[in-house]
Amino acid sequence: MRAHVITYGCQMNEYDTLTIQSELVAGGHDLVATPQDAELILLNTCAVRGKPVEKVVSVLGDLRKERAAGRDLAIGLMGCLAQLEEGRAIATKFGVDLLIGPGAVTEIVPAIEDLERRRAASGRSGSRVDRLAFRDDLVDHLTPPPPAGTLTGYLTIMRGCDHHCTYCIVPQTRGPEVSRPLAAILAEAEAMRAQGVEEVVLLGQNVNSYGRDDPRVPSFAELLQAVAAVGFPRVKFTTSHPMNFTSDVIDAIASSPNVCDYVHLPVQSGSDRVLQRMAREYRRERYLEIVRELRAKVPDVVLSTDLIVGFPGETEEDFEQTLALYDEVGFEQAFMFAYSARPGTPAHARFDDLPRAVKTERLGRLIEKQKHWSLVGNRRFEGRTVRVLVKELGRDGAHVVGHSDQHHTVLVPADQVGRMGLHDVRVDHATPHALYGTVLGAHAPGLALPLAS
Ligand code: SAH
Ligand code: SF4
Ligand code: F3S
Repeated sequence: MRAHVITYGCQMNEYDTLTIQSELVAGGHDLVATPQDAELILLNTCAVRGKPVEKVVSVLGDLRKERAAGRDLAIGLMGCLAQLEEGRAIATKFGVDLLIGPGAVTEIVPAIEDLERRRAASGRSGSRVDRLAFRDDLVDHLTPPPPAGTLTGYLTIMRGCDHHCTYCIVPQTRGPEVSRPLAAILAEAEAMRAQGVEEVVLLGQNVNSYGRDDPRVPSFAELLQAVAAVGFPRVKFTTSHPMNFTSDVIDAIASSPNVCDYVHLPVQSGSDRVLQRMAREYRRERYLEIVRELRAKVPDVVLSTDLIVGFPGETEEDFEQTLALYDEVGFEQAFMFAYSARPGTPAHARFDDLPRAVKTERLGRLIEKQKHWSLVGNRRFEGRTVRVLVKELGRDGAHVVGHSDQHHTVLVPADQVGRMGLHDVRVDHATPHALYGTVLGAHAPGLALPLAS
């Protein structure tokens, strides 16, 4: 079949899409570049908040109209939404043909075969094919490297989540924590590096839990060093959970030059009362202790975080503690979300949602805080030289855009850059969103590829 995959959600879905695509090709299907040319459209979905679910519902609505107008099209719902009761109901409503959870991505080809058999037997659209069991062997499956010319490669080191944050649907969509074997991780890392990937990003819901479920694999700090030894100029990882963010991980960052001085460490709230209601297993003081140790051992470290505002029962006082924590840490970067009640989560069952206006107002104040501290953090780099992985032409056409080792967005004049890859850039000017600079030189060897436009 001519198939097209649309990916929503986080980097884990992007990584899973590589497996979906390679399985399709190995199974004799063709990948087409646009949904218009496809006979089969697969949506690799996200369910973490209401918005991504609404997006998928709207796309399914459009596709239903096209089918009603006579287009012969099969539709697959994959990814996190597919695993949920909510996803099943949506699939039924919109006549989805394939429902495949994130633990069953490698079953895409046999699922299509099943669908074709059912269609042949019934002479018209057969009933839906579901694949929702988590496959134990998925952790051994080798995902091929991203397409040639891709400079940043994602590498999932563990699947699932064993935490029970009361707002979060992910443990239900991705199941319990399972660490991938070291050999599989290193094989993928080496294949990526051989293909020219300059920056590898190790992925897990809580990468610091790596190895806790399996005595045969090393600790996360050891894994980090093993991947660093593969020879990538850059190694990043996400997401870190404050619970298992141990000193050996901080030491590994400090001692490995290619492990980036950038840590994404979601705090979610600055109020102990709210953290407790969220069932996050640390408190404000422990979080601050980790930040102090990180800044002492890795002086250039850039910290980013996730924050939820308007968690049920969050008072003005609780929220002010989040603002105060922000001031105390001075996060360089942050992803901020208004609490979104997710059916099936403990918080949804137990607590009443706050009025939307309260959440919006607090989110606005938090964004002001973020702009202030991002500007302070970015200004620290003015006059300094940063190493930038230049990836693409900016929207204005006059700049090219890349990311620094510390994950800043960096823009340089397009006429100073002849190719993608690593460059040394002197930072001339900082805004809350980006660093603007001048290219001092390119790192060789690099990828002599034309800039993507
Ligand atoms: N495993 C990671 C985060 C995964 S989800 C961790 O524990 O930090 C990414 C982010 O989405 C979370 O950090 C949280 O800030 C946000 N998020 C998750 N569920 C949410 C919800 N119901 N409403 C709003 N934001 C949510
Ligand atoms: Fe969700 Fe919490 Fe697990 Fe992160 S640690 S994925 S927020 S349950
Ligand atoms: Fe979304 Fe699933 Fe990732 S819910 S954020 S795609 S783990």
